[in-house]
Amino acid sequence: MSADETGGQRLYAVSRARDDSGRAGGGRAGSGGSRRRFLNWLLGTGAGAVAAAVIYPVLRYLNPPEIRESTTSQVTLSVRTDDIPPNSGQIFKFGNRPGIILRTPDGELRAFTAICTHLACIVQYRDDLSHIWCACHNGHYDLRGQNIKGPPPRPLTAYTVVVQDDKIIVSKEA
Ligand code: FES
Repeated sequence: MSADETGGQRLYAVSRARDDSGRAGGGRAGSGGSRRRFLNWLLGTGAGAVAAAVIYPVLRYLNPPEIRESTTSQVTLSVRTDDIPPNSGQIFKFGNRPGIILRTPDGELRAFTAICTHLACIVQYRDDLSHIWCACHNGHYDLRGQNIKGPPPRPLTAYTVVVQDDKIIVSKEA
């Protein structure tokens, strides 16, 4: 074998090796590109999911849900007038919705929907404050159901209370 033949074979082998490595490298570059695209997509969707998880509750907080009223128009409570002393309140069922009946410190019976106008938690009567309170986000309503403090955006819907033979009848206002 001559020196030229040996050099030629060596040149051919180096050239093949370059071609192979080029192809293999090109293949790796293509695989790396799709991996990069996948990771970018994954990070993009992950960031999108995190953003949605943060933004959605904020939007719900700022834009409270509309709560549909019960279709029931009147209920007779199982409690009697004596069961509700002054400066106290109780939750009752008004159809499929909770209501709250309270007796003011002055002795007047009043009833409202018990669904907070903020994010629909059930309110309660606080005898230490002598008004209605929502524990979820510290919302306050006065004895007429008006929102007076905290995040609730609207008053509670008031019901009409009539006492007949010691029975308490609560109905929607006309
Ligand atoms: S639900 Fe938020 S204050 Fe009542």
